[in-house]
Amino acid sequence: MKAVLMSAIVAAAVLSAGLVQASPELSKSAGCVKCHDIEKKKKGPSFKESAVKYKGKAGADATIFKAITDPKGDHPEMKASADDTKTMIKWILTL
Ligand code: HEC
Repeated sequence: MKAVLMSAIVAAAVLSAGLVQASPELSKSAGCVKCHDIEKKKKGPSFKESAVKYKGKAGADATIFKAITDPKGDHPEMKASADDTKTMIKWILTL
């Protein structure tokens, strides 16, 4: 039982490390970096700026998801899939 629990913990740790590493690549392949940079303001706010803006807010990921995917919102249309977008939002909030 203990061994099962340990391997579950290890698997979770590996998964979350993968998330953090995959997301900068995702933001490149999805074209986000054309308008965003982690540190600097470009056409859109820096990802760090957005992380600070939403830090500690309840439902931050859902709010951001809606803000950047709503076709009636201010955000330019995106090519990323919903899953990729959610992965990137989780990553942005860790910055
Ligand atoms: C054509 C330029 C462009 C592209 C491509 C782009 N963005 Fe943006 N983004 C903007 C602009 C401009 C804003 C500011 C206006 C707004 O908040 O909607 C913004 C705002 C944001 C915000 C902050 C939203 C908020 O409510 O504070 C996030 C997070 C974000 N973008 C993520 C992404 C991600 C992830 C991608 C790639 C899938 C992406 N953007 C692609 C231009 C772009």
